[in-house]
Amino acid sequence: MAALPDATRGRLLYGGDYNPEQWPESVWPEDIRLMREAGVNLATVGVFSWARLEPRPGAREFGWLDRVLDLLHEGGIDVCLATPTASPPPWMGARHPETLPRDEHGRTVWYGSRNHFCASSRVYRDYARRITEDLARRYGSHPALRLWHVNNEYGTHCWCDGSAAHFREWLQERYDTLGALNEAWGTAFWSQRYDSWEEIIPPRRAQYLNNPAQQLDFHRFTSDALLGCFTAERDVLAAHSPDIPVTTNFMPLFSGQDGWAWASEEDVVSVDVYPDPRAGWEDAAGAPHGALVQDLTRSQARGPWLLMEQAAGPVNWRGVNHPKPDGLMRLWSLQAVARGADGICFFQWRQSRQGSEKFHSAMLPHAGEHSRLFRQVRALGSELTRLTDVVGDQVPAGIALLHDWESWWADGQDGRPSAGLDYPATLTAWYQALWEQNLTCDFAHPEATLDGYRLVVIPHLYLLTDAALDNLTAYVRAGGTLICGFFTGVADADDRIREGGVDSRLRLLLGLTTVHEWWPLDEDASVRLDNGARGTVWSEDLETDTATTLAVYAEGELAGRPALTRHTFGTGVALYVSTLLERPALRTLLADAAAAAGVLPVLPGAPAGVEAVRRGPLLFLLNHNREPVTVPLPQPGTDVLTGTRHEEEVTLDRYGVAALRS
Ligand code: GAL
Repeated sequence: MAALPDATRGRLLYGGDYNPEQWPESVWPEDIRLMREAGVNLATVGVFSWARLEPRPGAREFGWLDRVLDLLHEGGIDVCLATPTASPPPWMGARHPETLPRDEHGRTVWYGSRNHFCASSRVYRDYARRITEDLARRYGSHPALRLWHVNNEYGTHCWCDGSAAHFREWLQERYDTLGALNEAWGTAFWSQRYDSWEEIIPPRRAQYLNNPAQQLDFHRFTSDALLGCFTAERDVLAAHSPDIPVTTNFMPLFSGQDGWAWASEEDVVSVDVYPDPRAGWEDAAGAPHGALVQDLTRSQARGPWLLMEQAAGPVNWRGVNHPKPDGLMRLWSLQAVARGADGICFFQWRQSRQGSEKFHSAMLPHAGEHSRLFRQVRALGSELTRLTDVVGDQVPAGIALLHDWESWWADGQDGRPSAGLDYPATLTAWYQALWEQNLTCDFAHPEATLDGYRLVVIPHLYLLTDAALDNLTAYVRAGGTLICGFFTGVADADDRIREGGVDSRLRLLLGLTTVHEWWPLDEDASVRLDNGARGTVWSEDLETDTATTLAVYAEGELAGRPALTRHTFGTGVALYVSTLLERPALRTLLADAAAAAGVLPVLPGAPAGVEAVRRGPLLFLLNHNREPVTVPLPQPGTDVLTGTRHEEEVTLDRYGVAALRS
């Protein structure tokens, strides 16, 4: 992973998507003036400019972009230059309909919006390569250029004939023989055996449930096909400007790409953080959702990362779109810095007056430079200059949460024991129980090396590969502590069920003989355990072998059966939790296991709603409460944001932040 572009200059990046093509040129000088006033030092240009750059096939109109880049450079603002390939011009779809995606029903997904491309289309890829090549040639050594931004939020799916042919190639590569594919997909079931490669299609809309292994492979294929688009553009850019790092912006906790595989192909990992559609800034779940996405991105990056987009105020895609109250934009931006971001950017710089996002907020709103929002943008830009101490620094974490996109895909299909299984919700519940106690964690792939983590937590990984099982076994044997959540290790990499309820290696590790049956719980139902905890979503009929039972189910069909177990294995410990505990119990379980493993909260006893994170030399305290709160300090420190020295305590305003250096 290359360093972020400004790490060596010791400043945090600050800026946003800049779409000057939406405005007359007479507005541009004002943009530069106001960017300078706001402390903006990075503008992401050209994300949706393809039709402007290539108004007809093969034509090039670069003059306007030359002027934009020169103006930004004269203003001292660096450029994150995007390839425009997320939104092909209408002429491409009109002339080459095969570039347009088709949905599961075979219906065309038309142009007139964005993201209307089939990742497998040769025609699309050729046009994308050529415009990328010309951009790289023309701007690869422009003095304003700091970072390349490829495409935007890759995530399209396509079930067209071109994708089908590409899918078959991908499958041939993976399985080599048709026999191996038939075996992996379990095609003996429902008479699905394939007799020739040509018969294989993507999992299109069928009469009843699709083959789950085929669906899983289609997820893998789609992620790889899109990744192929990314790496093709990246390689062109790298060939022309080897010193300029390349990124593409991820969506937050998004299932459409294998984020581990993708991150390893990027020089800089960047993400867009918007509120979870299920949780906004109106409710308490907004802050932990942001923290989760930030910790995941830092883990993907293995270090500092870039917040490529967030909203300065309201978005326009929720049912009701509220502005951010005073202080919240600052709070969430500084949360990202605390959790490893070396740059804070927004969608977008100037609010559009036309198009689908004219009601989406921007750094410079319709209300202009004297608005409440722009004042806050200016203030944040100035504050970020006081946080240079953390640029390039790590966020120490003793806990790893294991997360895997492949398991998410396999888990999210139809025909499961319960439609209530919700992978991101389960991951979030466990993460939030750590977050609420200021126990900092990284995320890790289940096959990744876990050395250095004292506690490893698996909220729920339905699919575990043989390599992952060996990895977990070795980790615990060597003295690690593992907490394993329900319905984990059930399937192999082909979504084939491992017999005995969960895999035999995992049972050995957990000290279980078998899992007799899954007993999912109804929506809104819960079950009491004899230690006073309540479980939701799921329960299991377990039989222990060498494990000790810590708690049993206290009611219902499983009354008296083990719910929570503990097992010493090698020199380590493995706990199993066969239900989704409600948060108070989950917090206690995690706190106890962390303490026993020697991991302590960043700030023990911090008031509720106060997030404490260490990054480099600074202790960040973030008040997510809507009222002020006083936080006792373990040692005196100076708030680098205000210059004030605090001896025993610090009082944080509503949504207030302190960044303390001791
Ligand atoms: C992002 C996207 C931006 C803008 C933003 C609005 O997903 O990358 O271009 O659409 O959402 O929230």
